[in-house]
Amino acid sequence: MNNLYSHILGFENAFRIEIEKIKQTKPFQLYEPIAYSLSIGGKRLRPALMLHAASLFSESTTQVLPAAMAIEIFHNFTLLHDDIMDKADVRRGLPTVHKKYSENAAILSGDAMSILAFKYLAQGNSVSLAEILNLFSDTALEVCDGQQMDMDFESLSNVTIVEYMEMIRLKTAVLIASSLKIGALVSNAPHADANLLYEYGINVGLAFQLQDDWLDVFGDPAIFGKKQGGDICANKKTYLLLRAIEKADHTSLTILNEWIQKTEFDANEKIAAIKGVYEQTKVSEETHRLMVIYQNKALAALDKINVSEEKKQILQAFAIEATERMK
Ligand code: IPE
Ligand code: IPE
Ligand code: MG
Ligand code: MG
Ligand code: MG
Repeated sequence: MNNLYSHILGFENAFRIEIEKIKQTKPFQLYEPIAYSLSIGGKRLRPALMLHAASLFSESTTQVLPAAMAIEIFHNFTLLHDDIMDKADVRRGLPTVHKKYSENAAILSGDAMSILAFKYLAQGNSVSLAEILNLFSDTALEVCDGQQMDMDFESLSNVTIVEYMEMIRLKTAVLIASSLKIGALVSNAPHADANLLYEYGINVGLAFQLQDDWLDVFGDPAIFGKKQGGDICANKKTYLLLRAIEKADHTSLTILNEWIQKTEFDANEKIAAIKGVYEQTKVSEETHRLMVIYQNKALAALDKINVSEEKKQILQAFAIEATERMK
């Protein structure tokens, strides 16, 4: 199997054992929700990127497994809290942790996961461990910064596209970028290449979040695994909404503003009305064009990395996949 996931089987086998241990840990009320969130089928994108980055500079990838588990646990921690903050009931086609268990469970299990992530990371015995821990801590704080901006923007009416791009860089792109960089560092890659992988990851991560925002409106919930229109209901300042506000004529702008200001509404009616404006203003096409810009920036960074062309193919393909994915 010659794709981004060719190294993931070893990860899944090792991770399954850890999830089982977590599931057996007392108090069950704390650890069972953790095992649930880790076992219900995320794409495992970040560990796959980390393992692949490690494989560019080293024959063996087993040395990166603890860090790969750390990044996946951290990612899932952010989702537990994000789903409370976003009032999301469904993820991966199943009830979110706060719905299945309780809000308190999702808060405390999430806290434990963020700590577990550091525990796993510290188990790696790479010579770059101090640098990796530093990078991971900075990244974790950046994700919080991005999440705070995302929440603040819900009630702001003058968010700019520059501010939106900075928000998605922080909440999403830095974790994808750090996954790649940590993989490279564990394999003792030259710093210049590790930093170029980070740059690739930032740009792919921006495209990835733009597509996430697009899928929230236009995706098939049966494939995407999340409820449609969650961002619309929460007045999230997505690129789709910001561009629609810029492009809308007087009538459409009135429609947008009225729905944004309503505190009580029928979710389906709001989603249909705002989606109608998105279609009329053709912001879907614009979002795709913007994704291609970041895809090209990612490919330009990848181009400069000092490994064979053959080794770059999988990341070239992933830069495209990030913007075309349906889940
Ligand atoms: C969801 O990430 C959160 C975002 C950054 C958009 P993923 O799309 O990687 O979620 P899973 O882990 O595959 O479910
Ligand atoms: C994801 O943003 C960012 C983090 C969870 C840190 P979203 O809120 O768009 O992610 P989904 O759509 O709920 O997965
Ligand atoms: Mg969110
Ligand atoms: Mg969310
Ligand atoms: Mg989303």
